[in-house]
Amino acid sequence: MKAACALIVVVGIHWAVAGDIYTNSWAVHVPGGSEEVDRVSGKLGFVNLGQVVNGSDLYHLQHNGVQRKSLNPHHGRHIQLKNEPKMENKLVLWFEQQTEKRRFKRQINVVPTDPLFFKQWYLNNDVSPDFDVMTAWSHGYTGRGVVVSILDDGLEKDHPDLSVNYDPLASYDFNSNDPDPQPRYDPSDENRHGTRCAGEVAAVANNGVCGAGIAFNAGIGGVRMLDGAVTDIVEAKSLSLNPQHIHIYSASWGPEDDGKTVEGPGVLATQAFYQGIVNGRGGLGSIFVWAAGNGGLHYDNCNCDGYSNNIYTISVGSATENGNVPWYSESCASTLTTTFSSGTKKERQIVTTDLHHKCTDQHTGTSASAPFAAGIIALALEANPTLTWRDLQHLVMRASSPGNLKADDWMNNGVGRKVSHHYGYGLLDAGRLVGLAQKWESTHPQRKCLVEIVNNPQEVRSYLLVRQIITACVNSANHILSLEHVQAKISLSYSRRGDLEIFLTSPMGTRSVLVAMRPYDTSTEGYRGWSFMSTHMWDENPHGLWTLELVNKGQYNQNGFLEKFQLILYGTQENMTARKTQDSVLTECMTQDANGKCLDCGTSFYSYGKLCLSYCPPKYFKTTTRLITSEPDNSRFALVCAPCHPSCYTCNGEFANNCTACSPFSTFNDQENTCSQLYFPRPDLSPSAPPNIFNIVAISAIVIGTFVLLLFIYVCCSWCGSRVNVNRHIHQEGHLPPEVELQIVNTLGR
Ligand SMILES: *[C@@H]1O[C@H](CO)[C@@H](O)[C@H](O)[C@H]1NC(C)=O
Ligand SMILES: *[C@@H]1O[C@H](CO)[C@@H](O)[C@H](O)[C@H]1NC(C)=O
Ligand SMILES: *[C@@H]1O[C@H](CO)[C@@H](O)[C@H](O)[C@H]1NC(C)=O
Repeated sequence: MKAACALIVVVGIHWAVAGDIYTNSWAVHVPGGSEEVDRVSGKLGFVNLGQVVNGSDLYHLQHNGVQRKSLNPHHGRHIQLKNEPKMENKLVLWFEQQTEKRRFKRQINVVPTDPLFFKQWYLNNDVSPDFDVMTAWSHGYTGRGVVVSILDDGLEKDHPDLSVNYDPLASYDFNSNDPDPQPRYDPSDENRHGTRCAGEVAAVANNGVCGAGIAFNAGIGGVRMLDGAVTDIVEAKSLSLNPQHIHIYSASWGPEDDGKTVEGPGVLATQAFYQGIVNGRGGLGSIFVWAAGNGGLHYDNCNCDGYSNNIYTISVGSATENGNVPWYSESCASTLTTTFSSGTKKERQIVTTDLHHKCTDQHTGTSASAPFAAGIIALALEANPTLTWRDLQHLVMRASSPGNLKADDWMNNGVGRKVSHHYGYGLLDAGRLVGLAQKWESTHPQRKCLVEIVNNPQEVRSYLLVRQIITACVNSANHILSLEHVQAKISLSYSRRGDLEIFLTSPMGTRSVLVAMRPYDTSTEGYRGWSFMSTHMWDENPHGLWTLELVNKGQYNQNGFLEKFQLILYGTQENMTARKTQDSVLTECMTQDANGKCLDCGTSFYSYGKLCLSYCPPKYFKTTTRLITSEPDNSRFALVCAPCHPSCYTCNGEFANNCTACSPFSTFNDQENTCSQLYFPRPDLSPSAPPNIFNIVAISAIVIGTFVLLLFIYVCCSWCGSRVNVNRHIHQEGHLPPEVELQIVNTLGR
């Protein structure tokens, strides 16, 4: 009795001091063999989870009637185990309720030992704030299991700081049509760009070579596609390379940044983006990270670049070491976030891997910014692999903030976030991003609401104001409560396109510059159904008065016609400003099978592959399954995420008529709760069921349709292929041309 009291006192003190957390697992020592353990555990309501150490008499018992985590030990079960009648010997020789031990992933080297790490000012706390990557590293996130591909001019795959992370399945050479992305070497080393970008993401850490990549344990691949004729086919093949294997595509190229081009992806590249976001990463959507553009010197505007202006890409701007807008940087309303890059001659540049197994500390330009964002996003995907492409945009926006970034146009949008056309929502913070990723539950399906505002031509002279109150598709399945992307799709003619500035103002008062003056753009062609995109109204309520303004900033005697204006709103029916984030949407698995698949996540989490989630990601639904235990009458149900029918985006059951929402580009049938895939007839027709008349008709239709489509594509391509060699330029090399350097020096009066 005294001993017991002493024990309780000791336990009490121990608990008060250390704050032990008791689990529902017990370790027991039972020499009688597995059958004895089954018998005892069944009788007392435990589940026998087998030997702790193979070949020993130590067994793992779990009691599912006991809280999974508790601050108090469970004395009742102790007494039951103690009183278990002895046979010849004591049956249960020893037992112990398991407590959760505070274990931290060993991060001895949160600060990498690489020789050039001291020069990586954006990682090593030399500037404040920096990317805050060390916080993410200290939580154990280094990109493990995440695959990034750099779409560029090749990748030196045998570079000593990259080869360990090199992933051939994330690599290809579409310039010479072989799997090897090795760059073409020439005296000027013009094809060093892809290798430099790759090092920013995944240069190996602690290996004594160069510096460290942001996601230094991620898989890295390279697609060689810029060193040759860039056609729509080459772009589409690159953007759709291995989408079930590659998670993140990083691209730092686009139409020429000359301040007079308005151009976007062709038919095939557009299709590649669609396919990527609908089917990539098992339906969660490929992540496309894009550099905003290098046309700052030509007053270019990234909203005239249909790649960074695209809702499927995360468009990344640049800031210099001192928090300034770099001279090469393009500003526009579609930029979502910003990372550091080079600036003036006096400001430090980017340290990374270089051709010929070398290192450089002179990587520059907006194209250095996209791979940084790709690396930081890789850390977030390791923290929560079930994030969708839209979740990541929500999170990147929330993990960005103005910090020390200087601009004359910071404003508060309708939900109180600071936003700028130079930086989007500001500098991306990796620590914040991984923290949010662990707490983020899937956003509800994307809704798209299209409102026709101008259909009849209206004359534009020096100023035109168009105002309309909209309800954002209220009383329909596309009703939107919280905005994500906003597009203004505009057709207009104007005597000098570059002189016309266009502004869009939301009902909550956020005014986006859709395009600013572009002095080099003398085109008389106007805009032909061009979609200008803004991210600035994110999470706002779209109901109310929208305003479009067209303002002539050039000579007074110009004119044209606004022929068409459609407002295309994307968002969700959830009120995102009212969303409460939880402690964590992820927890540790309690029971795994031999392959690591989780069988039991406890009483409030659902198993999804190896993970335990508080929710099921898109294409899965919450259900229960019988957990097989050694004792039949003690079996119970485990919570699992089970796959929806492939036609659904979200569902409440496994059948085709259990859909609750459809993927983009397919339609929902209200009566039958089914989805029909409109835009992509899936290539695998696999008629496993005996064909009936309907199937035969449908299959013939699809076969004929596919044939016609292929013929169409063939004709188009042979026609376009001969004429179009898409002019794609690396947003590269932020080295000031000498004459400009001179001008700047002159203006600075030095
Ligand atoms: C446990 O040990 C037995 C016998 O040595 C062996 O056959 C079995 O594969 C082992 N199980 C595991 C999971 O290692
Ligand atoms: C969304 O929630 C916020 C905060 O709870 C509230 O102020 C706002 O009115 C809500 N918006 C809508 C459209 O219901
Ligand atoms: C799913 O569809 C099946 C087959 O039509 C039906 O029996 C079941 O009730 C549906 N389940 C739900 C949750 O709607």
